[in-house]
Amino acid sequence: MEKFKNYIEKNKDRFLDELFELLKIPSISAVSENKSDIRSAANLIKEHLLKLGLNNCEICETKGHPIVYGEKIIDSNLPTVLVYGHYDVQPVDPIELWNKDPFEPYIKKTKIHPEGAIFARGSCDDKGQMFMHVKALEVMLKHDGIPCNVKFMIEGEEEVGSDNLEIFVKNNKEKLSNDIILVSDTGMISKNIPSITTGLRGLSYMELEITGPNRDLHSGHYGGTVANPINMLSKMIASLHDSNNRITIPGFYDKVLEVTEDERKETSLIPFNLEEFKDSIGINSEYGELGYSTIERQSIRPALDVNGVWGGYIDEGSKTVLPSKAFAKISMRLVPNQNWKEISSLFTKHIKNITPKGVTVKVREHHGGEPYVAPTDTIGFQAASNAYEDVFKLKPFATKDGGSIPIIALFEKELKSKTILMGFGLDSDAIHSPNEHYGVSNFLLGIETISKFYYQFSKLFKTNS
Ligand code: BES
Ligand code: MN
Ligand code: MN
Repeated sequence: MEKFKNYIEKNKDRFLDELFELLKIPSISAVSENKSDIRSAANLIKEHLLKLGLNNCEICETKGHPIVYGEKIIDSNLPTVLVYGHYDVQPVDPIELWNKDPFEPYIKKTKIHPEGAIFARGSCDDKGQMFMHVKALEVMLKHDGIPCNVKFMIEGEEEVGSDNLEIFVKNNKEKLSNDIILVSDTGMISKNIPSITTGLRGLSYMELEITGPNRDLHSGHYGGTVANPINMLSKMIASLHDSNNRITIPGFYDKVLEVTEDERKETSLIPFNLEEFKDSIGINSEYGELGYSTIERQSIRPALDVNGVWGGYIDEGSKTVLPSKAFAKISMRLVPNQNWKEISSLFTKHIKNITPKGVTVKVREHHGGEPYVAPTDTIGFQAASNAYEDVFKLKPFATKDGGSIPIIALFEKELKSKTILMGFGLDSDAIHSPNEHYGVSNFLLGIETISKFYYQFSKLFKTNS
């Protein structure tokens, strides 16, 4: 398989150029002004699939942003790999913290990526990682061809909850039928330590609107006589965790699967350096639920975080005002057995119960999704493990990630197949943050590992059927 490596090395500049073209398109799914950019990104991906000779390439319309589909069925007796990824990206704010335009990709060396990293919104999440699959397909097709059937489904709404993909999947079960789903939209432990993600947290996203007096008031004339919505909101938020940093919503933990001692032991073997963790994000101490390690808090325990809070006067200088309203956006990360709709309603009920006299509350339930756990005793996992070992000369660890890809649990429910999460991002890549980047070598090694997965998978599939 040296020839794959050689081909990737020889074509690396073109691969990067092609990726740059995609990264230049500001396909921010959350911003309606970028609607046409979203479509341009979808069209460009479709062009790539067409050029590779995939069949039935199409832009599938949805009520929101379109889904790109393409397939190559070489033999119905062979297994089918369904590749999923997303071409939409997160908004860029705060724009002033970017060193350059987020949609003018460039390569710069970093401490962690001495060979260079690609800086651009979406470089890692997920255009760069998704594009590795397109290039892996090219690598295979330029050599002996693909050893199994492949279907591509690339969506444009992952960062806003995948609501329309959910409908698409439910309506196209036959078209999407597969033996394994392959996704690169997660991370690995470090540059030299590969890992396969076997868990994702679920998500429940909420918004609060607290209303007090019918208008902003003079904070001298009225201060001390009415419930200030921001004071009340702060009180409510503060009460959502107890002194052990456990979430206080009644029933919140009822269904959480407690981890076994064996699982905890396994987790403790995963290389994790607390000092590096703290250093990398500039904090002087870790923080979290009593009785669990940082890596456990990040992966197998639920969390509740305020994502944004606003209200009152925030412009220059001071204005003595007692605001009429206060707002907060709150996300809860969920672990196996917690159901996001159930958690959302427990949250809503609790918030209503703790709303102080003198203000009223409106709770808005945004999107959500179920957590996912992947077994490790499958040929899909084995194939991925072999592919990583082949490329990185090290057996990958199985890790659980704290992030969410809500559609993965739905795939399992609707398509009855497991997903292998082969992510190549690093925690330091700053996804969703200013100066997002992706290591050039992560990109290239990812292409190689993915190509090898196909051969491993079809081999194991054959011997197991
Ligand atoms: N690729 C991420 C999820 C991710 C990142 C998983 C790192 C594991 C490690 C994905 O694009 C994402 O950002 N998901 C959102 C949820 C979505 C519904 C907005 C998230 O986790 O916040
Ligand atoms: Mn992603
Ligand atoms: Mn994301």
